Amino acid sequence: MDKIKIIGGNPLFGKVFISGAKNTALPIICASLLTDEPVTIQNIPFLSDIKSLNALLLQLGTQIEAKSEQRNGHLTQTITYYTQQPTSLIAPYDFVRKMRASYYVLGPLLTKYGHVELSLPGGCAIGARPMDIHLSSLEQMGAQIEIKNGYVVADIKGRLQGAHITFHSASVGATCNILMAAALAEGTTVIENAAKEPEISDLINMLNKMGANIEGANTSTLTIYGVEKLHGTTHEIINDRIEAGSYAVAAAITHGRVELVNAPAQYLQAPLDILRKCGAKVEIIDNGFTVDAQNATLYGQDIYTDYYPGFPTDLQAQFMALMCVAEGAAMVTESIWENRFMHVPELMRMGANINVHGHASAIVRGVKKLSAAPVMSTDLRASFALILAGLVADGETTVNRVYHLDRGYEHLEEKFKAIGADIERIKIPD
Ligand code: UD1
Repeated sequence: MDKIKIIGGNPLFGKVFISGAKNTALPIICASLLTDEPVTIQNIPFLSDIKSLNALLLQLGTQIEAKSEQRNGHLTQTITYYTQQPTSLIAPYDFVRKMRASYYVLGPLLTKYGHVELSLPGGCAIGARPMDIHLSSLEQMGAQIEIKNGYVVADIKGRLQGAHITFHSASVGATCNILMAAALAEGTTVIENAAKEPEISDLINMLNKMGANIEGANTSTLTIYGVEKLHGTTHEIINDRIEAGSYAVAAAITHGRVELVNAPAQYLQAPLDILRKCGAKVEIIDNGFTVDAQNATLYGQDIYTDYYPGFPTDLQAQFMALMCVAEGAAMVTESIWENRFMHVPELMRMGANINVHGHASAIVRGVKKLSAAPVMSTDLRASFALILAGLVADGETTVNRVYHLDRGYEHLEEKFKAIGADIERIKIPD
């Protein structure tokens, strides 16, 4: 398990190239299972989550051909997925436990091949993460579903049937799964209270390019007119708003100036508003935005995480790190996940002043300085928050268990080094 060592104190200056969005790539890769023609996906980030999903698709019988290419000023991956006929309809425990978004094979395999066995992913560090919406929606579309030995075993006779479905929560995962399932269903499916995240709109674009007929992108009511067959396509995925938001905080917290190249500012309104209210200058430029906090005094701002277009839960930890060293107090409320404050004790070990109230709220009172410490990554976004704290702490911080970061931040040390951070990966042999 590698470690990351950071020596704090350097303001960050320069450019960070933002990569393709992990949370778009994952469902879009699985959408390739809906056709027996090749599907080429451009702008896939180099991340361990992508490798894990590719490993699952390989064992389902998908042929995968990857090439690296320069796009939009930096190195990206283009991968072609070709599933002529799956050799297995089972997503085993060993794959799903490594990468829970493996559950995106559920909708495509069931609707196209009539059967699927998916290991239930179980909870994770940030919450229980149930799948009831995915499963009950498929049942409403006519699937027979049983839970056996930790697996979801789903079958259909003929095709899934269109249905009118209302989600009790605007789940990103369930919206993607049911969109993919309904694309090949018989008849029309309507999803009410669907998630509106940009990653979903990108999936809808891609499915429509494959021959699906989906209306309502960017709204909470999606109408999917089922078709009999989908075909191959080429699709370039959108860039990662969460990665962009994370580096935006790095610029602000270090009182530097960073240009986020290829960053989708249009999907970051809520977090960029908070950064501006904190006192950083945020300027939208062609193909990205800049964050400038040189000589700025930063003030704490309240944050309430919510479904898109609200403030993303996936930026809560990073913004909390910023509030730790801002003037005044900030109330951080997490409304999506029931256990997403695990970074708090680690930040407190570095001198942060945070009081957690129940599961959902924390008061952060800004301190003048954090002090370096060995800390432990608990999940992907929390790990980045600890790096941010390390960038402004006195001395040398080591962040342990960095495999979390490798899941979701492409070439992290290289990107940080390029803007002047004193950061290094310490390889620990297995
Ligand atoms: C996705 C993101 C994750 C992000 C989250 C919320 C991916 C791979 N992951 O996760 O980074 O934090 O969206 O923006 O894209 N829920 C149910 N029943 C269900 C499904 C969800 O009650 O069947 C609840 C969850 O407990 C949670 C809320 O709905 O409270 C949102 O979960 P969901 O949007 O499904 O998150 P993921 O898609 O797993």
